[in-house]
Amino acid sequence: MKLDSAYWRDRYVEERTGWDIGHPNHGLIAEVKSRFPVNTKILIPGAGRGYEAEALWGAGYLNTYVCDWAPEAFDALSKSEVLAKAFSDADEAKSRLIVADFFTLEGQYDLILEQTFFCAIDPKLRENYVNQAAHLLKPVGKWMGILFDCHFPTAGPPFGGDREAYRTVFEKRFQIEKLERFRGSIQPRMGKELLGLMYCKSM
Ligand SMILES: C[S@@+](CC[C@H](N)C(=O)[O-])C[C@H]1O[C@@H](n2cnc3c(N)ncnc32)[C@H](O)[C@@H]1O
Repeated sequence: MKLDSAYWRDRYVEERTGWDIGHPNHGLIAEVKSRFPVNTKILIPGAGRGYEAEALWGAGYLNTYVCDWAPEAFDALSKSEVLAKAFSDADEAKSRLIVADFFTLEGQYDLILEQTFFCAIDPKLRENYVNQAAHLLKPVGKWMGILFDCHFPTAGPPFGGDREAYRTVFEKRFQIEKLERFRGSIQPRMGKELLGLMYCKSM
């Protein structure tokens, strides 16, 4: 199966979006609020419908950007009242929604916030993901996100993993501060997720 942009666009058009929880991941938002100031420049890659970004804009984190290569993912987000209220300038609001391939994206962010994007890409690309995340972060930048701590019985996406596998791939570019059971999971994913917090290693 080719997991290209056409594949993901079709999934939005056909409403086959089983990963979509329909609201922000409140546990993850709480982690951001407790650790990062409101001026943090945040990138959410493979953001899908971007509920977390909306929650962050609403909480004053105006430097939050979403990236997804399926423009359909942003249909509702682009018309979001929260977005319009946060930015009086329409072009500035639009600039927060980046329709692009994460792997070719340029820019410099303080924080990459991950949720169900890493598990959606072909596992062969995991090392590329880690390199690209490091490339997009400022020298003292951080990566925080949720990773599945399980293997799925059916062919992905999603593609699962475990702590050891994640350590092996992330440690090439990141110093791992925390990679532990996520206590803020939504009920269906409780006990199956890890929360990671990592610092970009200086090269
Ligand atoms: C499983 S969905 C998760 C969406 C969102 N993070 C959520 O939790 O609802 C994976 C998303 O990653 C996007 N995606 C996959 N590969 C991508 C790439 N190379 N660049 C940008 N977006 C990508 C897809 O279009 C899709 O919206």
